[in-house]
Amino acid sequence: MKKLNTRALYTGIVLLSLIGIVIVVRRTLLVIPVLTNGYHAPEVTSKFTQMDDIFAHHPLLTLIHIIPGLVFVISGPFQFMQKIRFRYPKWHRAGGRLFLISGNIIGTTALVMSFAVPAIGGVNQVIATALFSLFFLYSLFKAFQQILQHKIASHREWAIRAYSIGLAVATIRIINGIFFATSGITGLTPHEFFGIGFWMGFVLHLILAEFWINKTRLIKTKSHITTFTKDSFIRFMY
Ligand code: HEM
Repeated sequence: MKKLNTRALYTGIVLLSLIGIVIVVRRTLLVIPVLTNGYHAPEVTSKFTQMDDIFAHHPLLTLIHIIPGLVFVISGPFQFMQKIRFRYPKWHRAGGRLFLISGNIIGTTALVMSFAVPAIGGVNQVIATALFSLFFLYSLFKAFQQILQHKIASHREWAIRAYSIGLAVATIRIINGIFFATSGITGLTPHEFFGIGFWMGFVLHLILAEFWINKTRLIKTKSHITTFTKDSFIRFMY
């Protein structure tokens, strides 16, 4: 059962990372021509071209947000692989720096974009993205601070939170995709469901992160020397 859970988790992570890669590549291909050739208004307007048009007005900011996003989704899974962490600690440290730098750029630009780029979901979406950008940045800071203090268990927990919030952007695309596909039945417009989609994705990922942390928690001792439950020791080792 435990193996099944871990396998389901890794499958989910790979799937969401792939979605993350696709959305970044697609958006990059759309905004680079704007940077090189200048802005041209779309000839046909639909719900999709309207969204593309929003980002076409902010090509540089979008690129600064999504290129580190690509680094984040590609490097993230390796940071959480026990084998790499345990056998190649130097790689884990180097990957950690990359994760931290890209994460900080993503979080800061996400906060700026929350207010600078018109949100299809209005205020509801702005509050969700601004709040979770801040929480994401705070989690990254805590993960960094805790490892500097050699508090491995706590470092691991904050890193899981940050990673889960970052990956939520892919889940949000799935949720909003379902809202789009069912809008004929529900009657909901993108303005109504976009914000809800953002909240659902971020909150779901926060719950999943807390669930996983609780299930695999390393025991923290008073002296901050990490000890392990039998289950978490096995997870840490393999
Ligand atoms: C804390 C995590 C993140 C927050 C709060 C956040 C927030 C935002 C915001 C506010 C926007 C502009 C508004 C909108 O999409 O409607 C945006 C756009 C975007 N973000 Fe993020 N972001 C985060 C992480 C990431 C990551 C890790 C990736 C990499 C996969 C990513 C990829 C994108 C892309 C591709 C866009 C352009 C819109 C699109 O093509 O769908 N973001 N993000």
